[in-house]
Amino acid sequence: YIYAVAAVLAAYLLGSLAFAVLVSRVMGLKDPRTFGSKNPGATNVLRSGSKPAAIVTLLLDALKGFVPVLVVRLYGDSIGLGDGTVALVALAAFLGHLYPVYFRFQGGKGVATFIGVVFGIHWALGVATGLTWIIIAFFFRYSSLASLVAAIFAPVYYLLGDRMAWYAETPIAFALFVMAALMAWRHRENIRRLLAGTESRLGSKAKSKA
Ligand code: G3P
Repeated sequence: YIYAVAAVLAAYLLGSLAFAVLVSRVMGLKDPRTFGSKNPGATNVLRSGSKPAAIVTLLLDALKGFVPVLVVRLYGDSIGLGDGTVALVALAAFLGHLYPVYFRFQGGKGVATFIGVVFGIHWALGVATGLTWIIIAFFFRYSSLASLVAAIFAPVYYLLGDRMAWYAETPIAFALFVMAALMAWRHRENIRRLLAGTESRLGSKAKSKA
């Protein structure tokens, strides 16, 4: 029990590291909270014009979801941590990104961290969710739309995977649905802009409408 609490707390503290802000600071770029969508995420870092900074942000924000989930999945059993803890750790890392303790609880939208989490749960779930994002982004050029579609499909893939290959654990399915709902909520401004036709497309810089 004490291990579960420690794992959840560690995941939250790790998730709270807003890498969009930290990477931009280290690389001498503008704070992503001051331009474009003002969101501390890889998509908005890309609007600064630095692809490398965006990629590093994406990878680090994903890793902070991936690592805690994978560690509990691989080593949790030996200290009595099951799928309930995997689900809580996933949620904790994700909520750290949305409500970071080091950044006045003003975080991002959780997409990169979510992708990391799903890869940590099962590689096939990660591939399916990641490919969904890539396909939508490729055809529509909207990061937010790709994120929303991937968020909705991830829990569906998980439950489908259960019928075909592995046994879907209820706590993990629940965590995936909660994260998808929170991502939809955090994208409410993006949804409004998508419907109004004013959402910024991938590849356009911060100068244009965000
Ligand atoms: O990573 C979040 C993405 O889905 C949308 O980001 O900056 O366009 O609001 P942004």
